Amino acid sequence: MTGKVRIAIIGAGLVSDFHHVPGIKLDPRAELVAVCDPNQALLDQRKGEWGPAKYTTKYEEIAADPDIDAVIIATPNFTHKAIAIACANAGKHIMAEKPLGVNYEEARDMYRAARDNNVRHMTAFTYRFAPSMLYLKHLVKSGALGTPRHFRSQRFLDLPETSWGWRQYKKLAGAGDLYDMTIHRIDFAQDLLGPIQSVCGAVQTFVPRTQTPDGKTCEPSDVDDWSAMIGRFQCGAVGVWEGSTLMKGHHNNGVGFEWAEINGSEGSAVYQLVDPNYILVGKHGGSMEKMPVPAEFMKPKDSPRNPADGKPSTVFRYDLMWEFVSAIVEGRDAMPGFDHGASAQAVADAVLESSAAGKWVDVRYDL
Ligand SMILES: NC(=O)c1ccc[n+]([C@@H]2O[C@H](COP(=O)([O-])OP(=O)(O)OC[C@H]3O[C@@H](n4cnc5c(N)ncnc54)[C@H](O)[C@@H]3O)[C@@H](O)[C@H]2O)c1
Repeated sequence: MTGKVRIAIIGAGLVSDFHHVPGIKLDPRAELVAVCDPNQALLDQRKGEWGPAKYTTKYEEIAADPDIDAVIIATPNFTHKAIAIACANAGKHIMAEKPLGVNYEEARDMYRAARDNNVRHMTAFTYRFAPSMLYLKHLVKSGALGTPRHFRSQRFLDLPETSWGWRQYKKLAGAGDLYDMTIHRIDFAQDLLGPIQSVCGAVQTFVPRTQTPDGKTCEPSDVDDWSAMIGRFQCGAVGVWEGSTLMKGHHNNGVGFEWAEINGSEGSAVYQLVDPNYILVGKHGGSMEKMPVPAEFMKPKDSPRNPADGKPSTVFRYDLMWEFVSAIVEGRDAMPGFDHGASAQAVADAVLESSAAGKWVDVRYDL
């Protein structure tokens, strides 16, 4: 491709402002050419914050615009599928936020639309790009930990008990913590250890969330506030996952608590979001020791981001855009693709099925 990759943001809310627009601004191969959101007041605000571009309230105009090469879909979950299929049919490359859809079947349909239109597709699984996660993957794949036997992940946040907006309704979000938080951990577990074969899951709603942050009443939540699972990987390893946004005392300036570890036959290693430029590593008979992530794992090769700039738990998120634009420029698959988004959602849906049935469930995944 010649010239810059011309990118449109669809959904001008929090995650676009926090991850995607800074990622585009950092990448000399990319430019933000259009922004779409039905909220006109927000569009007006973004004009001032994000600068000149085409601003529209209709995603159909973005899909039809021949001067746009690629789109970022960062809208509420229930809208992803229709927007992605319209953009794929119009030949746009797509990065879509997780979860791809409100159930596995929607995610699978998005994958098929992107595949059949031969466009690049990527799922915004942010934490794959944390320096200690990149290094943890190297330790696993190089055999430094021996044969992986066990994965463990905990993600706790201390968020308010007021309404979560669209996120608290199954029809709009698909699921609660499971689709919002735990799905990332399902994805990076599969990236590290391969496909999950079967799960035994549980979900729980703790509070009704019938008050909005500004004191109005709203319909009660019908999604989970806590999600947990144990699982078996095809490789023979086992894993345990747990997440919730209502864990008091785990606020930590909004970063919360996150811990993920692999235990192998030779050693163990731990990734922590609060300290993503360091890793804990332990060997048989010893103790877990903290060490800095080696320089070559601090960012993707050739990314212009300076790892010393900014807050460590924030800035690696800009590398999602570097990967997406690299895949477009180099004419290769982006990682993680919609296939990975669909696969993580198949596991998450097996957790819901298992929780409802009270038994182990095999993961069903047919792209
Ligand atoms: N990868 C991550 O770490 C991460 C972090 C936060 C959110 N997310 C995901 O990003 C998505 C958006 O989350 P958010 O926190 O930014 O939500 P948000 O509610 O702050 O923003 C969503 C925006 O989409 C707009 N919108 C709604 N329908 C639209 C449509 N048809 N066309 C265009 N715009 C539309 C809304 O007006 C709103 O401004 C969700 O899928 C969420 O799960 C991912």
